Amino acid sequence: MVSSSQESTNSPDKINSTEGYSVVNCHPPREDILNEVIAGLTDTPKHLPPKLLYDHSGSSLFDAITRLPEYYLTRSELSILSGIDNDMRSLVSPDAVIVELGSGSGEKTRHLLDMLPRVTAYVAVDISASALDHALSSLAERFPNKRLTGMVADYLTPFVLPGDLEDMPKLFVFFGSTLGNFEPLEAASFLKRIAMSLKPDDALLIGIDTKKAPELIHSAYNDSSGVTASFNMNILSRINRDCAANFIPEYFYHEAEYQPGPGRVAMFLVSRQDHTVTVADRDIYFDEGERIRTEYSYKYSLEEFHSLVAEAGWSVERSWTDANEMFSLHYLRPDLV
Ligand code: AVJ
Repeated sequence: MVSSSQESTNSPDKINSTEGYSVVNCHPPREDILNEVIAGLTDTPKHLPPKLLYDHSGSSLFDAITRLPEYYLTRSELSILSGIDNDMRSLVSPDAVIVELGSGSGEKTRHLLDMLPRVTAYVAVDISASALDHALSSLAERFPNKRLTGMVADYLTPFVLPGDLEDMPKLFVFFGSTLGNFEPLEAASFLKRIAMSLKPDDALLIGIDTKKAPELIHSAYNDSSGVTASFNMNILSRINRDCAANFIPEYFYHEAEYQPGPGRVAMFLVSRQDHTVTVADRDIYFDEGERIRTEYSYKYSLEEFHSLVAEAGWSVERSWTDANEMFSLHYLRPDLV
């Protein structure tokens, strides 16, 4: 995951400096995206990587999701954040650099930076260049004296942080229950990889959606205004554009179900009819009713999450939930080996 210096599979190809912040571009090359798309669509059952949901329009649709009445996750996480100022100030070293994985709109970041006024450097890592620009430009207005850096990168693969931040303690931040996109075994190996790349003074603040009444979870992913459906469908237009494909979005519809056994939401695009789609010269056949899985979103009880992180080489220093236990936040330290 985070590799300290020399080697990286993706080296920066462009550096933008705008007022108040800078952005390094390590976005995965188009061929990598195409390979993943073909691999997923030729697999049985078919699936696509959820990170492809976040192009320019996907990121703004997701932003709209976070404001839906049914989507309790963001609101609950923000309510936890707003009550832990003192805890955070005593946990986080004042000279820490904050490194956020998947920074999105930057609203939670603003709360975090507000409660940690002595932190001087913040790095946002996100797959979406437009989401980064949006978040960093508003953060730059509010925090003119902090050093703000964006990295357009796929944090699932190793990336290199700016070299001079190397010796400062780091607080990694992974909000929004994005870890839930992984299957539990992948989640454990992702967390292991981070733990092994950190130093004793580093820490991870991570937000995780909890298990709760299935109806509440179901409505969060099947909102009445159809924003989640548009967010899901948008992946097809994105693949048309970036992978020379000819999906007809109208031939598919959105489906999301909570599966209580594995404790996850599975989101799909369902084919309305038998048809063939071409993706960069490859023919992909769809049967009527066949589904492409676009995302899993795993939910964890506190106990389940605590045993997952213990197995992955972390100790839980603090956990917080909101009053209704709709969401949880955890401050973890890597175990020393
Ligand atoms: C950003 C992955 C946490 O799983 O709730 C929202 C994405 N998908 N609605 C989630 C999402 C459908 C979200 N994560």
